[in-house]
Amino acid sequence: MDLDQERHAVDTLIQSLGDDMVLSGEAIEKYCRDWHGDVTSGAVAVLRPRTTEEVSAAVKACVSLGLSIVPQGGNTGLALGAIPDRPEDQVVISLERMNKIRRIDADDFSAVVEAGCILSEFKDAVARDGMFFPLALGAQGSCRIGGNVSTNAGGINVLRYGMTRELVLGLEAVLPDGSIFDGLSTLRKDNRGIDLKQLFIGAEGVFGIITAVAVKLTPEPDQIATALLGLNSLDDAITLFRRARRDCCDLMSAFEFMPPLAFVLAREAIPDLAMPISGDYPAYALLEISGSGLVDINDLMERFLGGVMEEGLVPDGVIARSKAQARNLWLFREGMNEGQAKRGTHLRTDVSVPLSRLSGFVRDAEQAVGAAVPDATCVSYGHVCDGNVHLNVLPPGGLSRAEVEARIHDAKKVINTVVDTYRGSISAEHGIGRLKKADYEMRIPPIRRGLVAALKKAVDPQGVMNPGCQLDFERHS
Ligand code: FAD
Ligand code: LAC
Ligand code: ZN
Repeated sequence: MDLDQERHAVDTLIQSLGDDMVLSGEAIEKYCRDWHGDVTSGAVAVLRPRTTEEVSAAVKACVSLGLSIVPQGGNTGLALGAIPDRPEDQVVISLERMNKIRRIDADDFSAVVEAGCILSEFKDAVARDGMFFPLALGAQGSCRIGGNVSTNAGGINVLRYGMTRELVLGLEAVLPDGSIFDGLSTLRKDNRGIDLKQLFIGAEGVFGIITAVAVKLTPEPDQIATALLGLNSLDDAITLFRRARRDCCDLMSAFEFMPPLAFVLAREAIPDLAMPISGDYPAYALLEISGSGLVDINDLMERFLGGVMEEGLVPDGVIARSKAQARNLWLFREGMNEGQAKRGTHLRTDVSVPLSRLSGFVRDAEQAVGAAVPDATCVSYGHVCDGNVHLNVLPPGGLSRAEVEARIHDAKKVINTVVDTYRGSISAEHGIGRLKKADYEMRIPPIRRGLVAALKKAVDPQGVMNPGCQLDFERHS
């Protein structure tokens, strides 16, 4: 599309949808840049509908102009799924103004929320009704429910409550021809044939635009115990996790692993963070136990830690004595991401292997990176007890852009090779997007490739929805 055609397209979109819905020019810059600022793109326009019907109208208008669509929620995704890669004929449809909570039903332990609602705002709203939505991640102040469902987000509470998929009861979506799929049921059990909502969960917008979601709620945990533990190794962290699963009566809600560098990185992002623990240890774990009702969570935490400390498995630890102290402990984990961002462009990975092989994997992968890119720093952390580690690689300062990119390329290649050896996944929770498409393409088995291409062809024969994301489907149909 040349400049005149683009101008004509924007004018036509304004005519059919109204100028309140259409952004163009400088106003669209923030929608076309990823969270880290590594990639800046563009789009013909950004459309911001307020209702499901407006999403449908927006899709129809784009299709009639031959434009394709990139759905966007909070734009915190780490795989470039929401960033256009063909600015000349792609339109971003942002769900940010579709942010109402349609219903919170505490008696039914469910809620119906629009796709553009910010995750933390939804969590706060259900908490006012004494309820809890368990999805929790560092980006929760910006990411939106539709994005969470479309990426099947993970986060820190997966070990107890599962990935986003396990929290979704139903959904509503606008299909590539503008029709509306109404699957907003809150039924817990419903085996009437194929469960079509699954098509949209983790699909990163390639089958349609999710406009609303029905989710499961649980009672708000009114007791939460949080501890930061100094440990001798990742192996000990995994042993401790296994013990906690057995001894903490299924009440463990988070178990995050951090290397010592976590504290340095977090304080680079949040300088006045108070150090919670005095000694230096090779590894750290953040443990959270929570519950509601007739259990004594603090007693459980103290008895559990008393036992494992006496045995020598946990040499040091601190239990938060207030909500503020617990928040301080979590800020070390959350601040790590911002600290790494401040160090500049780096490799972020999101891999998983079976838990029983995780520490071997981290050892082998860090060794391989050390051999391939000796001047880089590895930071392995995350939800290790889901078998999911973010093995990130930070190039040293003072390099040119090309040198940084070469190091990222080499480190990614060796890490992915080790992932393959361990029969793991190159995307545990962030998705494929555009960032990992080539790596996914070269690994997807032919039968699976054929099935997803056939599904794409059936649901989106013109390739309108998020082309360039996940796979180049048309090459496989
Ligand atoms: P976006 O970035 O806007 O979009 C992500 C993908 O979903 C894109 O492909 C987009 O096209 C598609 N999409 C968005 N909305 C819709 C819709 N309504 N319908 C159809 N498709 C849609 N992720 C984790 O899993 N676990 C973590 O612990 C975690 N921590 C993070 C911490 C930080 C600091 C940051 C920046 C990110 C983190 N993420 C994490 C990644 C990110 O927050 C999640 O992937 C989140 O679910 C994305 O939501 P979003 O609304 O920002 O989606
Ligand atoms: C985290 C993101 C990077 O776990 O997934 O912090
Ligand atoms: Zn993560």
